[in-house]
Amino acid sequence: MAAKGAARTVPAKGFRAWLNKRLPIDEFISSQLIGYYAPKNFNFWYFFGSLALVVLAVQLLTGIFLTMFYKPGEVTAFDSVQYVMREVPWGWLIRYIHSTGASFFFIVVYLHMFRALLYGSYRAPRELLWLIGMLLYLTLMAEAFMGYVLPWGNMSFWGAQVIVNVFGTVPFIGPDLVLWIRGDYSIADATLNRFFSLHVSALPLALLLLVLLHLVALRTTGSNNPDGIEIKEKLGPDGHPLDGVPFHPYYTVKDFVGVGVFLILFAIVVFFEPTFGGLFLESPNFEPANPLSTPPDITPQWYFTPYYAILRAVPNKEWGALALLMSLASFLFLPWLDRSPVKSIRYKGWMSRTALAVFAVSCLVLGYLGRQPPQGVYVVLARIFGLLYFAYFWLMPFYSRIERVKPVPERLVYHAH
Ligand code: HEM
Repeated sequence: MAAKGAARTVPAKGFRAWLNKRLPIDEFISSQLIGYYAPKNFNFWYFFGSLALVVLAVQLLTGIFLTMFYKPGEVTAFDSVQYVMREVPWGWLIRYIHSTGASFFFIVVYLHMFRALLYGSYRAPRELLWLIGMLLYLTLMAEAFMGYVLPWGNMSFWGAQVIVNVFGTVPFIGPDLVLWIRGDYSIADATLNRFFSLHVSALPLALLLLVLLHLVALRTTGSNNPDGIEIKEKLGPDGHPLDGVPFHPYYTVKDFVGVGVFLILFAIVVFFEPTFGGLFLESPNFEPANPLSTPPDITPQWYFTPYYAILRAVPNKEWGALALLMSLASFLFLPWLDRSPVKSIRYKGWMSRTALAVFAVSCLVLGYLGRQPPQGVYVVLARIFGLLYFAYFWLMPFYSRIERVKPVPERLVYHAH
């Protein structure tokens, strides 16, 4: 109804008619916003996709302004960031929005990914949507890592040193690969310049392209929902899903509420605690890069620390790097590891519920351990929680198949407020 209604509103004359003959704006609105039916039971967890879009836009916008004043180069980089902070009108605000935005991007994306684990959104028919999401995540990691090197603080320098050296563990080509990435025999001017180029051009372009593919894949399969029921299988007489509501205005309005709350929280951090107690901006990074002075504890940014803990939990460097690689790659196999007859955690049995809870706790504990020195009890704990992390993925074919599941209702469960 709504789609037809919207198509009828296109006037035959005037500017809008002229425009629509050249650019199908009304057709897009009616097919993708009003005529697109989304499940009516979206909950809290469904805010984070649109929030990821908002943060991406914020990062691109603030990034453009930072690039106007930032000067890549060993000699100029650190000072140009200080210049932005002290001299450029509102420069401090732009920079703090960008640095806080990086951390918020990961908070949003981690919650977004956790939603997919909760409701089995990675499963058929959405495997490709999930894989594109993972590509987005990996690209985002590269983008954040390179961005962190740009201010050329001491943690930028030493963090880059450690992370780039991980590539040295690749069999046969490792040392050459490291040299190729750095463009020099240590992290140096050449490294900083190429990281800058990738951070401001290639990677943002890749992110935009992947987001587009992500959204096209999403619109092709349609969204999953907290019940894990395919709404397209129950159509009403008008041909629309019985359990769907038009994306616009229902979810555009709902997403705006999410954006409002998000921006309030974001502003509180930007204005009152931009370093977030040393978690979002670390204290060694307020000193210029110094190859002769290693910070007491070299830790990557908080969003990488679970993987860093896994890397260091293995005594052998090569095997540690392999464990790190596998901790990321395991996500790619999820659509095929999950053998449960139901998608959503609401109807899965106690084993899947426990496994997901243990996995979430393991990520948090590993995140904490990645910031501690790699010794004593910290290493033992990293090994235990590392194993629990992997158990979630690789025991899934067993526990998801043998457990008793709850019956899935015919239609979505929805309680109007
Ligand atoms: C720049 C980063 C990203 C952006 C802008 C983005 C955007 C979106 C949007 C707007 C939606 C629809 C709204 C929603 O379901 O919340 C969505 C859905 C989805 N995204 Fe992402 N996403 C990003 C990263 C990821 C990542 C890293 C993954 C997983 C590895 C992922 C997996 C999914 C899945 C499985 C869905 C469908 C969920 C469902 O229907 O239940 N996305 N994404």
